[in-house]
Amino acid sequence: MAFRLLKLAIALTWLANVQVQAATTMWFNKTTIIPIGNGRLGAEVFGQIPTEVLVLNEDHIWSGSINDPSNKNCPGVLPKVREAIWKDDLYTAQSTVDASCMATPLKQQVFQTAGNLTLAFPSVASSSISAYNHSLDLATAIATTTYTTQDGVLFTRTSFASHPDNVIVMKISANVSGKVGFEAKFTTPMDNPKFSVNKSSLSLTARGTTMYTLPGSIEFLARAEISAVGGSVQPGRNGDTLSVSGADLAVIKIAIDTNYMRYDDISGNPEAKVSETLAAVRNKTWQGLRDAHVDDHAGLFGRVDITLGTPTQYSYLPTNFRKNLPGGADADADLFALYVQYGRYLGIASSRKTEPSNLQGIWNQETNPAWGSKYTLNINQQMNSWLSEPLNIAETLDPLWNLISEMAERGTVTAVEEYNITRGWVGHHNTGIWRDSTPIDAAFYGMWPMAPAWLMQNAYEHYAFEPNNIDWVKNVAYPLMKGLCEFYLDFVVVTPKDVEPQEYIVTNPSMSPEKGIGDYNDTNVSLTYGSTIDNSLLRDLFNHTTEFANLLDVDAEFAENLTATMGRLMPLSIGSEGQIREWARDYNPGGCVCCLFSIPHLYLLVDCLIACHSVFTHISHMYPLFPSAQIDPRLNSTLARAANVSLMLRGDSGNGWPTAWRANCFARLLDGEKAYYYMKRLLNSFSYDNLWSKNSVFQIDANFGGANAVAEMILQSHNGEVHLLPAIPSAWASGRVKGFRVRGGFTVDMGWSGGKLEEVVFRSTSGTGANVRYNDKVVPLELLKGGQRTLGILDFEAEHISKMSVLT
Ligand SMILES: *[C@@H]1O[C@H](CO)[C@@H](O)[C@H](O)[C@H]1NC(C)=O
Ligand SMILES: *[C@@H]1O[C@H](CO)[C@@H](O)[C@H](O)[C@H]1NC(C)=O
Ligand SMILES: *[C@@H]1O[C@H](CO)[C@@H](O)[C@H](O)[C@H]1NC(C)=O
Ligand SMILES: *[C@@H]1O[C@H](CO)[C@@H](O)[C@H](O)[C@H]1NC(C)=O
Ligand SMILES: *[C@@H]1O[C@H](CO)[C@@H](O)[C@H](O)[C@H]1NC(C)=O
Ligand SMILES: *[C@@H]1O[C@H](CO)[C@@H](O)[C@H](O)[C@H]1NC(C)=O
Ligand SMILES: *[C@@H]1O[C@H](CO)[C@@H](O)[C@H](O)[C@H]1NC(C)=O
Ligand SMILES: *[C@@H]1O[C@H](CO)[C@@H](O)[C@H](O)[C@H]1NC(C)=O
Ligand SMILES: *[C@@H]1O[C@H](CO)[C@@H](O)[C@H](O)[C@H]1NC(C)=O
Ligand SMILES: *[C@@H]1O[C@H](CO)[C@@H](O)[C@H](O)[C@H]1NC(C)=O
Ligand SMILES: *[C@@H]1O[C@H](CO)[C@@H](O)[C@H](O)[C@H]1NC(C)=O
Ligand SMILES: *[C@@H]1O[C@H](CO)[C@@H](O)[C@H](O)[C@H]1NC(C)=O
Repeated sequence: MAFRLLKLAIALTWLANVQVQAATTMWFNKTTIIPIGNGRLGAEVFGQIPTEVLVLNEDHIWSGSINDPSNKNCPGVLPKVREAIWKDDLYTAQSTVDASCMATPLKQQVFQTAGNLTLAFPSVASSSISAYNHSLDLATAIATTTYTTQDGVLFTRTSFASHPDNVIVMKISANVSGKVGFEAKFTTPMDNPKFSVNKSSLSLTARGTTMYTLPGSIEFLARAEISAVGGSVQPGRNGDTLSVSGADLAVIKIAIDTNYMRYDDISGNPEAKVSETLAAVRNKTWQGLRDAHVDDHAGLFGRVDITLGTPTQYSYLPTNFRKNLPGGADADADLFALYVQYGRYLGIASSRKTEPSNLQGIWNQETNPAWGSKYTLNINQQMNSWLSEPLNIAETLDPLWNLISEMAERGTVTAVEEYNITRGWVGHHNTGIWRDSTPIDAAFYGMWPMAPAWLMQNAYEHYAFEPNNIDWVKNVAYPLMKGLCEFYLDFVVVTPKDVEPQEYIVTNPSMSPEKGIGDYNDTNVSLTYGSTIDNSLLRDLFNHTTEFANLLDVDAEFAENLTATMGRLMPLSIGSEGQIREWARDYNPGGCVCCLFSIPHLYLLVDCLIACHSVFTHISHMYPLFPSAQIDPRLNSTLARAANVSLMLRGDSGNGWPTAWRANCFARLLDGEKAYYYMKRLLNSFSYDNLWSKNSVFQIDANFGGANAVAEMILQSHNGEVHLLPAIPSAWASGRVKGFRVRGGFTVDMGWSGGKLEEVVFRSTSGTGANVRYNDKVVPLELLKGGQRTLGILDFEAEHISKMSVLT
């Protein structure tokens, strides 16, 4: 007993020390985009002198309008498509789908910027500025820019996006009275812009642009209300500027709203919404707004602490210098802790209540951004969601559940119109605020009705991490999953005996997203039957839906049918080069014989591999390894080795999200060094100065995927075990985490040093058990709801490990 108390005291002591850390500060000694957001409103704060720019986003400002994009010729041609695929006439299959199944218009509507608020300060020679510091405190979500002018005046700009008060707030102050002066003005590339101004506010109204033949229909209003202490605020001559002069400080409050209510309702009144928002904050002090914002943000952000090693001299460099340290970040492991916290910060800033974070979060400068800055559902949106559960910001997924529910409403019509399937719903590889669910772009990319099954894997995790979420399962997840299963039960087909003697149940058409199989009649095709990701997605969906039906005690016969169908799905198998076979037919594994001799760390033989592999971004056949857990080296080393071969054959790929995905995969293969190699690559090669991730241009998915990979290296919790330090690289010999979540309903605090576990504290939110693995020992743990338990290294060294008692 005394020993127990002593252990507890030790645990509490080191937990108290966890707080002190540099991992929540980013700063720059040059202008750099600092993103702030309240989930709905986003701003890029540039920190420029003399003219500051805030690029503004509101998450419902999209192009075009709703239409019925379905191609109603599709049901008529599906039998022909399937027949061609059985005969391996993939050209006919793909060209038939292109001709008869694709949406009109062929492309989907895009996310658009609201425009800029520019603040023109008196011009100064940049050489006369000193002590410039542009920083972001992740713990308070406040961006600060400070600089001193030649005459010794210290200027400070402080910006935040308040979720509780629904506004973006910027305060501009100087340490000498009467020195604050600037001219504020909106600019926008959007349609039909109108500017107006009065004594205290500046307004812009405009409309989403017409795109791909669909007329722009989102109307929005952006208003900046400016107040000053001392000095004056006055409208400019042209009716579109507001000038502050001779003030001690000025506060700008920005509200933006649209006519969007729902995908099928754009009757909202932006003027009424904005007026109400600004009226509600008019009498609040800056300090009051700031404190409410910090409290709200800290309520989510403050749940997790992470440190990786002791901060070094490098940890105190400007963030862009840390990222570019020669020799990688080995000397500054804490940069990866910052990367985790930044991912969490970005999640909180871009996904609260309204829309989920899209390809660019809510930080888009354009009217026609790369890939439409849409919700891309064949990896990217899923990757955006990975960190939310383990890194303890599960609430940021609420907008995703809403998006899926609304897409399912439209997907019910798509199921009928595109597939002649009269129950359930379907979606394809992209969606947006109009909740489109049809195949777009081209058959090669778009004819993939499996995207929603992948979203439902995320939904299952929401329950796996918190088994208390039963009401949510009942009201949100299960109805969506059941409907999707109904669609797939009608969509799948049995392979003809001359194609597969075992008569498997498969998808047809099917693809391994965006991966060409090869040339058929001089055309690169992707459509075939029974891709590995499709088989694996159906296995997960049917399994999880069955589990939920049992949990809720409903639909017993339906669940039995699902289980029976699941048993006839094509299993994972190994292809001609030792890889996880990507499609039912072992097409084009891409590689050469040398890669067969797969031993751990063969990746170091770079030359061989460069000659061998066919580099490609997507690794969809690794879905069963990560994010799913159907391949697990602890359960089947044959499959795990084959996954390793697949990853080598696929090569490194030159972009952010593929690199982040690979890092997660190697963490799941328990290969910490290789996971670390990809994390360094992500930081060094595919991150901007502000650590935004790159997919040729800024794309946010790898920020989330990379943060999650760090978490996967530290703690895993699939297939019935919580695994401590499963893939820790030697560079992270010591570290501490607090507030990580694991499946089964626990939060976990853990410390390690010298590469070895020190202590781990489990707190149960649901009163379920856990099997806790450290190296080759597994300790069963049972906690009551609210119970807490500390395990030390000795607990894993006992010769005979017995069941731990139930503690509260
Ligand atoms: C910014 O900081 C880096 C690293 O300390 C330094 O090398 C560089 O000169 C600084 N740049 C400016 C403009 O102060
Ligand atoms: C759609 O399904 C119904 C009922 O099975 C069938 O009668 C009809 O022929 C189908 N339509 C097409 C275009 O396949
Ligand atoms: C810039 O500001 C950040 C955040 O306050 C701080 O951590 C950093 O030390 C500052 N840099 C300098 C050179 O003062
Ligand atoms: C304002 O700040 C600057 C830079 O820190 C300092 O040199 C100056 O003395 C301050 N002025 C006043 C009036 O406090
Ligand atoms: C808004 O600011 C960004 C960044 O400076 C710039 O690229 C863009 O052209 C500006 N847009 C407008 C409409 O002024
Ligand atoms: C300026 O316009 C805003 C928004 O229309 C309004 O709320 C405010 O009362 C106006 N102020 C003055 C002084 O007219
Ligand atoms: C703001 O304060 C003024 C003056 O104290 C008061 O007349 C007004 O009703 C207040 N408005 C709101 C929205 O609280
Ligand atoms: C087919 O497309 C894939 C991309 O999915 C590409 O890697 C491959 O090189 C293409 N093949 C041909 C022959 O164009
Ligand atoms: C293959 O391409 C040739 C020439 O482009 C075309 O004439 C032929 O019809 C195509 N074959 C099929 C099966 O479509
Ligand atoms: C179904 O899910 C359970 C719980 O996650 C898992 O243990 C089991 O292996 C899964 N079955 C299949 C066939 O994937
Ligand atoms: C189960 O499958 C059988 C055979 O396909 C079918 O007749 C029955 O309606 C299904 N039951 C449910 C509840 O879906
Ligand atoms: C591992 O998976 C392979 C391929 O599916 C299978 O043949 C083998 O039986 C599995 N081994 C174990 C130990 O389950």
